[in-house]
Amino acid sequence: MPGPDVANSWPPPVKRILLTADQIQERVSQLAAQLQRDYAGRRPLLVAVLRGSVVFLSDLIRHLNMPVCLDFVQLASYGDSTCSSGQVEVLKDLGTDIAGQDVVVVEDIVDTGRTLAYLVEELERRGAASVKVCALLDKPSRREVPVRLDYVGFEVPDCFVVGYGLDFAGQYRNLPYVAELSPQAYAPQEE
Ligand code: IMP
Repeated sequence: MPGPDVANSWPPPVKRILLTADQIQERVSQLAAQLQRDYAGRRPLLVAVLRGSVVFLSDLIRHLNMPVCLDFVQLASYGDSTCSSGQVEVLKDLGTDIAGQDVVVVEDIVDTGRTLAYLVEELERRGAASVKVCALLDKPSRREVPVRLDYVGFEVPDCFVVGYGLDFAGQYRNLPYVAELSPQAYAPQEE
């Protein structure tokens, strides 16, 4: 994961744009249509994982012509290749009792799968009637923990991406597209 040293530059140090704003908007409306069909006659609780999924969530819900409720959770994952168990810390918990509710987790990107695996298990433990996952981006080549993704926007290659909610050291979430960050942005600088 890149370090924060050069995260103030603008325009962003982008290697290539992977998904344009138009491509994203079209796919988000398709995902919403799918959700609307699958949850017809019900009122799902969308649980968004802060902070990366807020842009996706806000576009997604404006395409949903049906009753929905929202809640938010913020998690930090400390798992890495040297620690197979992977620890997840809850930084902000849900404000809702989810027992008996149809929950849809809204994620920005699924990488190792650790964060999501923890969250899905926790939501099931708390008695959700059902738990499905809607992720904008999937990086399957990086998976360490198996997770079921019910709705996926796009698969992306194994590279560090920014934009449309995704950050590098807190920056670039406001880009309307998804781009691969230039490796120079985080490569060690020569003296
Ligand atoms: P996981 O637990 O490894 O699946 O981590 C998922 C979280 O890591 C995402 O919700 C993001 O916050 C972050 N993440 C993983 N890959 C990227 C990336 O390419 N760009 C920005 N954030 C990422």
